[in-house]
Amino acid sequence: MIKENKGTRMIMSPLFPSLLCAHRGVEVEYDHEKHNFTCASLGSSKYTLDGDNIDGPAEKPLKNYEAALNDGILMIKL
Ligand code: FES
Repeated sequence: MIKENKGTRMIMSPLFPSLLCAHRGVEVEYDHEKHNFTCASLGSSKYTLDGDNIDGPAEKPLKNYEAALNDGILMIKL
């Protein structure tokens, strides 16, 4: 889970969502106004900050990776 606080995104769980759309793999971008991830393709799938699919042609959530902060460095297990 990712939470936003005054423009800073904070990781609140050991999982971090992939930034590739579950539909056809186009990069998703963070929408600061709607606080979600939106695919840049014409289909425009949308995802919550946890990676759950909320709109668009994608039928699956974003893939999640294990993540941890280690001395201020974000480590993501691929
Ligand atoms: S690749 Fe994202 S909606 Fe199709």
